Amino acid sequence: MRRIAIINQKGGVGKTTTAVNLSAALAEAGQRGWLIELDAQAHASLHLGLVITDHSPSMYDVLTGQANLGDICHPVESNLWLSPSHLDMAAVEMELAGEVGREIILRDAMATVDQEFDFVILDCPPSLGVLTLNALTAADEVLLPLQPHFLALHGLSKLLKTIELVARRLNPGLVLSNVLYCMYDSGTRLAGEIVHDVQRFLDSERNSSSVWAEAQSFDTVIRKNIRLAEAPSFGQSIFGYAPNSNGAYDYRSLAQEVLRQTTTISDRHRTLSSVQTPL
Ligand SMILES: Nc1ncnc2c1ncn2[C@@H]1O[C@H](COP(=O)(O)OP(=O)(O)OP(=O)(O)O)[C@@H](O)[C@H]1O
Ligand SMILES: [Mg+2]
Repeated sequence: MRRIAIINQKGGVGKTTTAVNLSAALAEAGQRGWLIELDAQAHASLHLGLVITDHSPSMYDVLTGQANLGDICHPVESNLWLSPSHLDMAAVEMELAGEVGREIILRDAMATVDQEFDFVILDCPPSLGVLTLNALTAADEVLLPLQPHFLALHGLSKLLKTIELVARRLNPGLVLSNVLYCMYDSGTRLAGEIVHDVQRFLDSERNSSSVWAEAQSFDTVIRKNIRLAEAPSFGQSIFGYAPNSNGAYDYRSLAQEVLRQTTTISDRHRTLSSVQTPL
């Protein structure tokens, strides 16, 4: 199982669009997926047409110890389950302020769920607060969506330092695995320049011991596509709303790339375990 946290503390860069449509593309490809929503805006739930009442339990209740995570895994499409958020989540930061071990509540809750999944995708809010820390502690890897425009890289060093700290103190296996360019406009020179700057940075870090030493930019870029912006108001992923759009094409291509990585990762694990087997 791969646990991928989609994180960028910058708002509106394509985190939720990616969480929803990558999950849906993986599900379409036959993978069992679980999308966990950690943002009070609850846009992922809206996007997938899951409406919960004010009295139904949500991730808010799980994080505050009032519900079991297993009880809020709702099936939303074939092969895809969603654990929804709620506006109440906005208060979690303050409510958990004095709680010991507040960064590992989600990880502990996930360990109690006995359903089998191939992928867990965590949709995070645009901040580096306690919800994002919970995602970083529960995940194996971070997928960083970037919108290649002015100030795209602003705040990136703070994000990288946070991932590094969480890896050092709470989650030793955590890495930044991938950068994904969203709302990509190939017609602008700036987009090309930002992609080039990020690539130069990643290449310069290859031999470092940092958590981003092996990070790759996906070959797939998510182009600007109005259908992706329209789909949430119809409560459907891009595959339900506009299956032949460029947006659907890009997210399918992204899912294939993610699946190829999974094969490489499990091959590497197989090789390592055969090397470590005593004669
Ligand atoms: N490739 C795209 N082409 C066109 N519009 C897009 C694309 N990706 C996302 N959008 C739109 O851009 C807006 C921001 O996207 P999204 O909600 O995914 O960002 P976010 O990073 O999750 O935002 P937040 O930080 O508020 O959670 C949304 O209205 C979404 O529909
Ligand atoms: Mg979002």
